[in-house]
Order: sequence, then structure tokens, then C-alpha cells
Amino acid sequence: MKLVRTIADLRKEVRDTRKQGKSIGFVPTMGALHEGHLSLVRTAKAQTDFVVVSIFVNPTQFGPNEDFHRYPRPLEADVNLCTQANADLLFNPSVEEMYPAGFSTTVEVTGVSDGLCGAHRPGHFRGVTTVVMKLFHQVMPDKAFFGQKDAQQCAVLRKMVLDMDLDLQMEICPTVREKDGLAMSSRNRYLSNTERSVAPGIYAALMAFREEAVKHPGRGVTPFKNLLLGKLKEIPGVTMDYVEVVDSLTMKPMEILRGSLVVAVALRLGSTRLIDNILVNIPS
Ligand code: PAJ
Repeated sequence: MKLVRTIADLRKEVRDTRKQGKSIGFVPTMGALHEGHLSLVRTAKAQTDFVVVSIFVNPTQFGPNEDFHRYPRPLEADVNLCTQANADLLFNPSVEEMYPAGFSTTVEVTGVSDGLCGAHRPGHFRGVTTVVMKLFHQVMPDKAFFGQKDAQQCAVLRKMVLDMDLDLQMEICPTVREKDGLAMSSRNRYLSNTERSVAPGIYAALMAFREEAVKHPGRGVTPFKNLLLGKLKEIPGVTMDYVEVVDSLTMKPMEILRGSLVVAVALRLGSTRLIDNILVNIPS
């Protein structure tokens, strides 16, 4: 696997690969790679000929009081993991390479990015869509691979691809979890031992919602949302950001248990912000 740090070197590799008639898969990440990221790389490898992984801790998607500076950057370990997962090219640009002095363009998807994390992290999705649009233009992939773990990010990026006529296919891959149910995340390494031991309660609460909701098609969402909220509040040291039951494409709140729902939560354990979600198909 080759490591490149400039857009010019990336473009050269991509051009050479295309000349050989190979299809290109792309897995954008911020590094601190775990099994969730690696599952995307393996899926990309199975579906395309040449897999590009990017590692870039994107400053524009972090708020002023968020963890940009302390976000983990274990590059050497990440390079080894990408090599083991058979990635073909790793792109690890500097902040100056991606945002040279005077950079002044943003990409913004309205509507689908307004609620949930969009409401709690102002400007976050503008940062995500701006950097992913740049990366898409740099890599020009046939397919790009994202995790369901970040359900709203998937919905926002799908809409960007649709609205801007980008000639690539979005592949959304299932959330990879620890054995005890905690969704894998680069931020899990911030958790203290005590916080880590109670964190599986998030998935358990989501599963409790699903278990009850599927038994009651057509009922109002509120009592089930309250059940979920109650279970989450029982987790020691938790503070809630949001609990929402939404349509998976529009991210608009659903009033009634019907069709295909995304139940999404965001909370803090101590100072660590965690998100998780499940898809719930209500029988008709
Ligand atoms: P990051 O949080 O590093 O995640 C990179 C990709 O891995 C995203 O598509 C995310 O949904 C996926 N992922 C993370 N945890 C996962 C899990 N447990 N199971 C399956 N997939 C998982 O998301 C970002 O970076 C950034 O916003 C980015 C898109 C790279 C733009 O900067």
C-alpha cells in the first residue's frame, strides 16, 4: 500500500489506476481506525478493484469547543491496519493541503442536515459536506463507502450526491459493534473504565425500543420514545443531547410507528459525546 500526502500525488495514482481500467472504491475517515472503518475497507475491496482510504481530521466539522485538537491521530497504527485490510492507497493530507490560505468555499445541504446532530453541532454538516465534496473531486471514485453508525451523515451525503449530480454510488454499510453492543467509535478511547462499562446500555435501550415498537404498528411514537429516554437516563453519568425517531431518508421526525424508522440518540458520558442508531422496520 502506498501513502500519499498531496492532492497532486493522489491524482497521479488515481489517473494511472484508471488507465488500467480499474474501478475505484473510496473510504473517507478521520483515522484512529477500528473494526468499523476496516469493515468499510473490506467491503470496498470486495466491490471495487482499487481502494483509496483517506485519513484527515477535518477541522471545519468540529465546533470551537469540540475535540479537534485532542482527536486521536495514531498514524503508524492506522497505516498498518490499512495495509492488513488490503487498501491500495492511503491519502493523508495536511490541513494546509486541504485548506490553503484564503480558502473560502463551502458546500451546504439544507433540510436533512437541520435536525439531530445538525441542531446540536452548528456548522458540523457544512464541514462534512465541504470536505467530502473536495475528497470526491480528488479521488473521483466509482463507489464511496460510509457507515450506518452516522445515519444523518449518510442521509446528508446521499442528498449532496443526488442534488449535485455526482457520478458515484454511495454504499451504506452496517454498524460494527463491540461484543457487548457498544457501537465502535474512535471516541470510545476517551471513555474511563467506569464509563466504558456502562456504555453498552445505549444499545440495550435502543433494542428495548425495537422490541416494544414492532409489537405496536400504527401507535404514536411518543410513549416508546419516552421508554427509550427513561432507559438511557438510567445510565450513570449520562447527559442527553437528543433522542429522535425519524424517516431514514429525510431525517424528519415520525409521529407514528410505521414503515422503516431510524431511532437515533446522541448523549454524553462524562465529556465524551457518543451517537448510535438502529433501523426499525415496523410490520404492516
Ligand atoms: P469517521 O468518524 O472516522 O468515520 C469514517 C467512516 O466510518 C464513516 O462513514 C463512519 O460512518 C464509519 N464508521 C464509524 N464507526 C463505524 C462503525 N462502528 N461501524 C461501521 N461504520 C463506522 O465520519 C467521518 O469520519 C467524517 O465525518 C468523514 C466522513 C471522514 C468526513 O470528514
